[in-house]
Amino acid sequence: MSERTLGMGVIGCGGIAQAAHLPNIVKNPRARLVAVADIDRDRANATAEQWGCTGYGDYQELLANPEVEAVCVTSWAAAHAEAVIAAAEAGKHILCEKPIAIKLEDADAMVAAADRAGVKFTMGYQTRFGVAAPLVKQILDDGLIGKVMGLNVVGVGPSSHGAPWFLKRELSGGGVLMDWGIYTAFNLNWWLGPVERVFATSAIFRKEVMVRGELLTDLDVEDTVAAHLTFRSGAMGSWYSAWAVRTGHSTTSIDGSEGAILMGKGDGVNLYSTQLGDPDHLRGWRNIPAVEPSLIMLHYRKIEHLVNAVLDDTPLVMTGADGRDALELVLAIYRSAELGQPVTLPLERGMPVMEPAVAI
Ligand SMILES: NC(=O)c1ccc[n+]([C@@H]2O[C@H](COP(=O)([O-])OP(=O)(O)OC[C@H]3O[C@@H](n4cnc5c(N)ncnc54)[C@H](O)[C@@H]3O)[C@@H](O)[C@H]2O)c1
Repeated sequence: MSERTLGMGVIGCGGIAQAAHLPNIVKNPRARLVAVADIDRDRANATAEQWGCTGYGDYQELLANPEVEAVCVTSWAAAHAEAVIAAAEAGKHILCEKPIAIKLEDADAMVAAADRAGVKFTMGYQTRFGVAAPLVKQILDDGLIGKVMGLNVVGVGPSSHGAPWFLKRELSGGGVLMDWGIYTAFNLNWWLGPVERVFATSAIFRKEVMVRGELLTDLDVEDTVAAHLTFRSGAMGSWYSAWAVRTGHSTTSIDGSEGAILMGKGDGVNLYSTQLGDPDHLRGWRNIPAVEPSLIMLHYRKIEHLVNAVLDDTPLVMTGADGRDALELVLAIYRSAELGQPVTLPLERGMPVMEPAVAI
């Protein structure tokens, strides 16, 4: 194991950088915070002062600093592509926040740039390092529920947007599905393999939202999406995601030829499996308590994942290509909702970003 520390930079000094990336880089004994950058130079300088590093008003200056070996890209979604490609070309390893980008062509270019440069490129899906999501993957890979036939995913909750750009398509790329649903998109691809076809509807039910004391009325991102999915494996399922709601709840159920997985709000992973029959009293449904670490710990682990992969030259378990695939699923659902028709994956490149969802 390498004894040296990894010099890190953070591009984008907003909410998530302050809450997750900066404290966890500083906390990691194998990492060293070298610099931050933000197009808001005052914010970059204030952040640099707070965290004891160098501040830049332009990420190119940060990338030119040879002490920076890896970067976290925590700017708004539409700005990820340019910074990630420039970072790769500068030979820096990368953690990019979700979503990877808002256009598939950009995501392709980001993955290609990292491949060309031979740098590590991971994504910011912290749930990958939790308990429940990897447990579901293990159950599926171990064949405990047999061949998967169907699933049902519901993920809803009232949103509390940190910044107005989340509700502007030009900067965010979309609403609830792009911001929250993309975690599910990542999980579905990881658990069940690629989706082949989607058929979806979306809507904007809520016309006004307060963000940081500002009443936004010109929303152009969807707050509600329902999609039917057909996986390449033949499995099928439905997915409903919404944030214009009064309270949160989520369930995931997966049915296979030998059993089922059921997850609800905070009650771990419930498993029914014909493959775990002995002893007799364990037949039937069993509850596996999946106590998740704190959110800050999940963020710590995703940053540690990149630090260790670089310092020990070990493979990443979650890559930019996974981020690209999650984006493709979300964009296919948007495309289907826009056309009112089923859409087949992989998507053609060069499609326009979807028009605003229908306002109800
Ligand atoms: N993984 C998670 O749990 C999680 C949580 C929140 C946000 N996010 C993601 O993190 C990213 C940032 O979200 P946020 O809530 O921190 O937003 P934010 O608006 O609070 O911060 C974004 C910052 O990026 C800066 N910025 C924009 N373009 C830039 C550029 N080209 N160069 C340098 N700085 C630039 C902005 O000035 C701003 O300070 C988004 O992609 C978002 O989806 C992830």
